[in-house]
Amino acid sequence: MGQVIIKADQIYKTYSNGKRKLEVLSGIDLTVNSGNIITIMGQSGAGKSTLLNILGTLDKPDSGILEINNIKIETLLEDELAELRNRHIGFVFQFHHLLPEFTALENILLPAWIKNDQQNPIDRGLELLETVGLTERKDHLPSELSGGERLRTAVVRALINRPRILLADEPTGNLDMNNARKLIDLLVQINRDFSQSIVLTTHNPEVAEIGHFKYELKAGQLKAA
Ligand SMILES: Nc1ncnc2c1ncn2[C@@H]1O[C@H](COP(=O)(O)OP(=O)(O)OP(=O)(O)O)[C@@H](O)[C@H]1O
Ligand SMILES: [Mg+2]
Repeated sequence: MGQVIIKADQIYKTYSNGKRKLEVLSGIDLTVNSGNIITIMGQSGAGKSTLLNILGTLDKPDSGILEINNIKIETLLEDELAELRNRHIGFVFQFHHLLPEFTALENILLPAWIKNDQQNPIDRGLELLETVGLTERKDHLPSELSGGERLRTAVVRALINRPRILLADEPTGNLDMNNARKLIDLLVQINRDFSQSIVLTTHNPEVAEIGHFKYELKAGQLKAA
């Protein structure tokens, strides 16, 4: 079974636009153990990004309990939360969010520079670039990388601090099938080699297949898919 990395219990989230209220999450229960790949499918607007942002502590639920590494998130102060996020959680966003004025290698190293506890982050950065076949692109700016290369850079950036959990929001959303397959192979390899826990959202049933546990988010609830 492995250790419990994330435990979400009855998570609710409603957005308000003036008088209109939109309940997006209606009692989500989810447990992620170490070494699990969890995939979450769902139509556009189903609430996948909302859920992932809550699991990653970037957004707060209206109610429900979220534990990461057995720590109840609501008991943490803002700086403790930032520390936990930086230490344990890696994010890959659909639109990669690489910083345009930094090279691929520098983008990968940023989280390590912020955390500032690694002896040789450059060595690890180069090693990670090699695993995704981008050694020769290390000095390229994001504008000088292809879409697939940018995403692979974003994936290894999310891994530089060795997070307990990798959260990936439609990581293959903007890729052609060939690059999508490469990215999926990479995630499977990372899971196998480092027992990396991964939660990813996707529209694509082929991508969802890599999940050890597969869910669909529908009408605010997670159902086994
Ligand atoms: N800040 C916000 N204020 C109000 N409504 C919001 C806000 N953010 C998202 N929503 C609404 O909540 C619903 C869920 O949004 P979310 O981004 O989680 O969907 P999603 O499943 O990730 O969709 P997609 O597949 O298109 O990325 C959508 O209907 C969206 O319009
Ligand atoms: Mg989304």
